[in-house]
Amino acid sequence: MNRWFVSLLEITLTISFFAWTGCQPAQEPGDDAASDSLAAADTAAPASLYERLGGEPAITAVVDTFVSMAAADAELNFTRQGTANEWEATPASIDTLKTRLVQFVGQATGGPQIYEGQDMGTVHEGMSISNEEFDRLGGHLLAALDAYSVPAPEQEELMAIVETTRSAIVAADTTAL
Ligand code: HEM
Repeated sequence: MNRWFVSLLEITLTISFFAWTGCQPAQEPGDDAASDSLAAADTAAPASLYERLGGEPAITAVVDTFVSMAAADAELNFTRQGTANEWEATPASIDTLKTRLVQFVGQATGGPQIYEGQDMGTVHEGMSISNEEFDRLGGHLLAALDAYSVPAPEQEELMAIVETTRSAIVAADTTAL
């Protein structure tokens, strides 16, 4: 091999080496941005149901729709006319009910809200609520969740929470219905 050929070979190898190293990650493996974000994803807590529902704005919108649907359903008798605990629906009492429902759902789903209302047994006492009526209200809640395109897994999680209130809400004398 003559000197000219050896020099050409050296130059070619040098250029190839730098071209190759230029394509490699600039940082040490395990120290780059991609592995940092993977590590963060591994340790991050899963989003709460509250966050997945869309937080307070989304819950407020669902509660507004749900209360309007319930109030308009004569068969549900939401105001409990003819029972020992009739409820007077006024703009102020409806506002309070909505505020409490948002607090209730917020607190139950992992949000920062603090529920300031009464416990489920006390507030619904004397309203003679049947299982059928409980289910009917649940149907309105599902329809409101659908109206805001809440995905099925989040709907199911919320309905499971609502279900935990059934025994306190449904009157003892109507549980066979
Ligand atoms: C599906 C499960 C239910 C849940 C989670 C629920 C939850 C609540 C909450 C958080 C309040 C506010 C309590 C307060 O302000 O202290 C409330 C009030 C009320 N609920 Fe329910 N409820 C349910 C079912 C029902 C049903 C089936 C009816 C009637 C058919 C009903 C009728 C009422 C009425 C009339 C009030 C207003 C009471 C008042 O402000 O004095 N609820 N409910």
